[in-house]
Amino acid sequence: LASVEVDVASLTPGMSLIVKWRGKPVVVRNRTEQEMKDGEAVKLADLKDPIARNANLPADAPATDANRTTPGKEAWMVMVQVCTHLGCIPLGQEGDFGGWFCPCHGSVYDTAGRIRKGPAPENMAVPVFKFISDTKILIG
Ligand code: FES
Repeated sequence: LASVEVDVASLTPGMSLIVKWRGKPVVVRNRTEQEMKDGEAVKLADLKDPIARNANLPADAPATDANRTTPGKEAWMVMVQVCTHLGCIPLGQEGDFGGWFCPCHGSVYDTAGRIRKGPAPENMAVPVFKFISDTKILIG
């Protein structure tokens, strides 16, 4: 399917779901206040990959926490949950930065899915998506 509609009404803060989009797992996570604060506190200079990698933004947009999400819905991470090293599926809410951890070769991503440690070169990709209502997201 080129696009997929996701009902997120049941996701309270701290909950995620994974949908398949174009053969890839896409995680939708309603982040907690703390996860957002942790993401916002990170300085761009500390990022291995300073680019947002958000298909909804210009290709050179910086990887701020907000630029990894969508305006007005900053709690929500929508992201292709595929490690940018060699394509394994990272585990959610694992690793030193409270985000994602790839068990294949130890890449560690933060609460905004930005690479922080390990061999992966890029932040995990944010696909084209938008909220089509308060509780529905269209991916693709
Ligand atoms: Fe994830 Fe190598 S595939 S660290």
